[in-house]
Amino acid sequence: MDMKQRIADLAQEMLHAAFPEAQGLPQDLAALMEVPPDPAMGDYAFPCFKLSKALRMGPPQIAQKLAAAVEKPEIARVECVGGYLNFFFNRENFARELLSAIMAAPEKWGSGEEGKGKTVCLDYSSINIAKRFHIGHLSTTVIGNSLRRIYDFEGWKTVSINHLGDWGTQFGKMICAYKKWGDKETVEKGGVDEMTRLYVRFNSEAKKDPALEEEGRAWFKKIEDGDPEVLEIFHWFKDVTLKDAMRVYDILDVHFDSYAGESFYADKTGRVVKELEEKGLLKDSDGAKIVDLEEWNMPPCLILKSDGATLYHTRDIAAAIYRKETYHFDRCLYVVAYQQDLHFKQLFKVLELMGYDWAKDQCQHVAFGMVSVGGEPLHTRTGAIVYLDDLLRQAIDKARGVIEEKSPNLENKDEIARQIGVGAVVYSTLFSNRIKDIDYPCNKTTSMGEDGAEQTDYEINWDKALSFDGETGPYVQYTFARCCSVLRKAPQDLPAPDYAVLTDDESQALLRLLSRFPEAVSDACDRNEPYLVTRAVTDVAKAYNKFYYEHRILDDDPAATAARLQMTDACRQVIKTGLYLIGLSAPERM
Ligand code: ARG
Repeated sequence: MDMKQRIADLAQEMLHAAFPEAQGLPQDLAALMEVPPDPAMGDYAFPCFKLSKALRMGPPQIAQKLAAAVEKPEIARVECVGGYLNFFFNRENFARELLSAIMAAPEKWGSGEEGKGKTVCLDYSSINIAKRFHIGHLSTTVIGNSLRRIYDFEGWKTVSINHLGDWGTQFGKMICAYKKWGDKETVEKGGVDEMTRLYVRFNSEAKKDPALEEEGRAWFKKIEDGDPEVLEIFHWFKDVTLKDAMRVYDILDVHFDSYAGESFYADKTGRVVKELEEKGLLKDSDGAKIVDLEEWNMPPCLILKSDGATLYHTRDIAAAIYRKETYHFDRCLYVVAYQQDLHFKQLFKVLELMGYDWAKDQCQHVAFGMVSVGGEPLHTRTGAIVYLDDLLRQAIDKARGVIEEKSPNLENKDEIARQIGVGAVVYSTLFSNRIKDIDYPCNKTTSMGEDGAEQTDYEINWDKALSFDGETGPYVQYTFARCCSVLRKAPQDLPAPDYAVLTDDESQALLRLLSRFPEAVSDACDRNEPYLVTRAVTDVAKAYNKFYYEHRILDDDPAATAARLQMTDACRQVIKTGLYLIGLSAPERM
């Protein structure tokens, strides 16, 4: 029940009736259809400006002429305002048709078939081995996870890939440091933090003793050559890192189909180099091999260092080709911060120059803005770093406190606290368009660290994000729980709904939003913008609450009760779907 399409079809019919001879009119009228800024001006507005030339008539006159040809049961009336023809639905009919359509397959409302038979690869989260999962990786993780769900809902086959950063000389250095100063137990216990400590120590010692660098490289060479003893340590480092990351993925309910990271492509870069050579794209530059991109106003793409080592780009070229050949994707998305904009422009250009035409329109860098805490950008070296597990833990603890205060008798408090805490964090991350920088407001305190050095502690200011009011995840979740609670009180054996009780402004406002939800999901998919779903589901929640305060749902008239309950049920389902699509749980009680 796509109302926009229906009105567009209707406009088409009217156009035909009013101007039977006309030629050269726009074909897709749905694309022209607008939503008036104020519902008092109608449910949909059809702008006549683009018809003016073909019909040789002013837009207001066209609107007048079209208006005369309207005669449809689903339309209560039309109004001509300027060059617009505004349509007003027959409210009762709209309520009946829409709710019947939603209730026929509630869980599918908003889904689509745009992606039927198509595959999308989504590269997101893509953490680095031996580094702790910090909030800089929050956006890629939650945007990617949401896009995966959205694409899936639109009928695509999705392949989610965690392109691990697990290749490079730093791993040789780390193993070197481990061999010199580390031991198994300490790493098992200290996890990623201990690995970082070893790496930091290596770098400071190497400043005093440059020969260490060479040693580090030699260890990396052993990884490259597949020395079993060294590989064992390397894989163990990976396992330790992934075990840490898994905790975060479990809390967030994020999953991957593949963890093929950079090391996976180590033996696939030879082919890339050979191919680049054969295609005459490789150039020498001080012993290194590059692809010159000057013609496209970009710095060269580095393929091999002078010592023959491959680079981030080399492995990304191999990865893109591998993904195409393995998954036959129709789209390949890279959810990575905008700082890597140039990297991806170069990558796609090189692939295109290699003759892989698909790179141009199927590969896409889904960029997002910077994350900062308390106005300070995140940087490992300055120490202004907030780890994701700490952040989530804080949010969950706070949510637990809120529950204790508001619903002391709730069952399952820990799980609900997880859902709300995570909901607050994820929702804030997906509230605005991707490219917008996000700053988490926080309180800073300085304290003495274990080693006697001064350290800054960041505590995010959770009050706003966790509020059950306003534009927050918990607010939308709370509205969902409210719908569930209303439905639990529903009397048995109700008669058929009387849709005439849903013709008031509040009910109609809610119904309009429910009817537009599918379009929001489809736009979010087309533009790779989860926030469009965040906004849509928030608007539904707000409209439901408005309706809830203004109307008695459990009425003396059972047919009226039936109608309002059905609308509540439809709303409950749409909120549940919307929350799911942005990666939030929907607790039935909170
Ligand atoms: N590991 C990289 C980072 O943390 C992101 C990798 C993104 N994916 C890719 N195919 N380059 O910056």
